[in-house]
Amino acid sequence: MTDIRIAIDGPASSGKSTVAKIIAQDMGLIYLDTGAMYRAVTYLALNNSLDKEEDIIELAQENPISFGIDSDGKQLVYLGEVDVSGAIRQKDVTSNVSRISAMPKIREYLVDAQRFIASHGGIVMDGRDIGTVVLPDAELKIFLVASVDERAERRHKQNQEMNIESDLEILKVEIAERDYKDSTRKTSPLVQAEDAIYLDTTGMSINEVVNFIEDKAKDLI
Ligand code: C5P
Repeated sequence: MTDIRIAIDGPASSGKSTVAKIIAQDMGLIYLDTGAMYRAVTYLALNNSLDKEEDIIELAQENPISFGIDSDGKQLVYLGEVDVSGAIRQKDVTSNVSRISAMPKIREYLVDAQRFIASHGGIVMDGRDIGTVVLPDAELKIFLVASVDERAERRHKQNQEMNIESDLEILKVEIAERDYKDSTRKTSPLVQAEDAIYLDTTGMSINEVVNFIEDKAKDLI
């Protein structure tokens, strides 16, 4: 057991959560998918037709986000008692999440929750602003990128496995749009932290990426 904090940031579908989960399991660390938190809050806003950040936060406080694992080891996401794991991956949430996550008070609320979770020990956290805002003093920071084509193909495969409606060409456009919105927003845009290691995973296997990050982490323990 180690107390290392690993921050993995990068654009949509760059493989962050896939590798973060494996690293957390291999190294006995907590895993936190911060994208799932922004998705859960977006789901709440859409389902209740809320637009004002204060109203969205109030409802999020009444329906706290928590995580679980199913019998196959898959991550489950709850809002209060309700399992929203599938719902937060649906199209309407994906196409609205960048808008909701650009709201400064929503970010403040979720960043506080993320730091609280990280205060419990070693953690692998993936997102857009982990190395820059959430855990600026994380021991290891990785900035994971891959070409839009490869990311769209990975997401398409994932969607098909999860029975989520998916079209490869539309995914390419959506991913590029989400990259643009996430990197140009005013509050905590997606940027590489100065001390992050840049890793282009285009053409790399999941194992290769995991091994690269774990080797760097082991050097720090
Ligand atoms: O990681 P995922 O693609 O599920 O994230 C969904 C969206 O949540 C991102 O496109 C981004 O708008 C937002 N997000 C964020 N900050 C994070 C994690 C995700 O703004 N730390």
